[in-house]
Amino acid sequence: MSQSLASVAYIGATILFILSLGGLSNPESSRRGNLYGMIGMTIAVLATVLGPRVTAGGIPWIIAAMVAGGGIGLYAARTVQMTQMPELVALMHSLVGLAAMLVGFATYIDPSASSEFSGAAKAIHEMEIYVGILIGAVTFSGSVIAFGKLSGKIGGKPLLLPARHWMNLAGLLIVIYFGREFLHAESMSDGMKPLVVMTVIALLFGIHMVMAIGGADMPVVVSMLNSYSGWAAAATGFMLSNDLLIVVGALVGSSGAILSYIMCNAMNRNFISVIAGGFGTSGGTPAAAGAQPAGEVAPILAAETAELLREAKNVIIVPGYGMAVAQAQHTVYEITKYLREKGVNVRFGIHPVAGRMPGHMNVLLAEARVPYDIVMEMDEINEDFPKTDVAMVIGANDIVNPAAQDDPTSPIAGMPVLEVWKAKTSIVMKRSMASGYAGVDNPLFYKENNRMLFGDAKMMLDEVLTALKA
Ligand code: TAP
Repeated sequence: MSQSLASVAYIGATILFILSLGGLSNPESSRRGNLYGMIGMTIAVLATVLGPRVTAGGIPWIIAAMVAGGGIGLYAARTVQMTQMPELVALMHSLVGLAAMLVGFATYIDPSASSEFSGAAKAIHEMEIYVGILIGAVTFSGSVIAFGKLSGKIGGKPLLLPARHWMNLAGLLIVIYFGREFLHAESMSDGMKPLVVMTVIALLFGIHMVMAIGGADMPVVVSMLNSYSGWAAAATGFMLSNDLLIVVGALVGSSGAILSYIMCNAMNRNFISVIAGGFGTSGGTPAAAGAQPAGEVAPILAAETAELLREAKNVIIVPGYGMAVAQAQHTVYEITKYLREKGVNVRFGIHPVAGRMPGHMNVLLAEARVPYDIVMEMDEINEDFPKTDVAMVIGANDIVNPAAQDDPTSPIAGMPVLEVWKAKTSIVMKRSMASGYAGVDNPLFYKENNRMLFGDAKMMLDEVLTALKA
């Protein structure tokens, strides 16, 4: 394929990626968005592999790598549970970081690259390598720790080392100092030392950064690492002089940054404070004793729940992580359909950080064919709870915790929540009194107008549906 044809293919792929992002911004156009992305990526891969920069001898290697990588990807996509998706995404981000690091080192030791550049161009090229490896290393180690935290292999509590901000600052200064050393290195072996020192510091920084972030702030970290992986890809594009990779990396990097900003707003957090770490436990202190919820919880049976739903005029369903674990979305849809046919106004209230990844609940509800027009964002529906007869909370906990509003000592204080307790009756469906991801007690369970429907969400909802139809 000639250079000009490859450039045209790259422009086509870029347009498709932009259309893809546009499509993904809305559930109704998201399938189309995905399709554009897939076509764009196919064009991009073909134009690169068949392009002028790949020699015939390289093709078998590329095909072998694509078969191996594609096979692993296909296997992971088919076997991974919906609830493990965030971990998988974190793991994939780590691979982008690792790739950026490896490409950086390979570019540096590539003898043809060093003879290609001189003067200012050489300095810029080396700068690209240094920054590329830096971003790649932070993304790699940060994403591996995020994977550990999301999968529960590493505890959610933030690791708050003494003088951690000073340590980060010292790390930054050392990285700048060695960057200067690297640019002034006479030979490749001289340059290797500062490069390796910087890589080790960047890896440690990535670990420290994510370890210092508390459970409740993990959504921001997930989207932030998404953004970093984009910048790592863009840095790789600079190192390889590949325009498409630069553009795609910048698209992922900036959309991830916007998502992080939206997540911060949703959690009422300041971005810089989240990155600095320590939130999510209020500095590690548990809620004050006086603020602990007290009293007795009132259990309810599935048949009684069905009775309440049947008599209700307005119902709001609030799904959370437990709905994903139980895979209860299809039964939720059946109940919604039944109630709507009986004239009950059923709507859904979706918290921006419900579940374990952005849009988690929307994906599950769309999969179960719940109509989009009754799925509302938190801000759209929160003021309707006082006019609601039944608020049904399905496997959600942190996102309906009134302590976020009432208890300034709570680790989640200030996070906007769905005010289900303002409904005439709220019903919380979960298996036990266990806390949610943020590890905090929930006073909602003890409120007078709240009922607890204990059990697996899918089993309980099946019972509710049977009772409704009886
Ligand atoms: P959580 O607060 O984690 O609560 C989920 C509840 O579901 C648990 O208390 C659990 O109680 C219940 N549950 C689990 N399996 C169940 C099953 N099979 N049937 C019924 N209930 C079940 O979830 P949430 O309310 O959706 O809030 C999300 C939390 O995750 C927030 O703290 C958020 O910051 C964090 N987070 C979000 C993201 C994103 S981007 N969305 C990413 C990382 C972290 P039992 O064990 O008693 O059943």
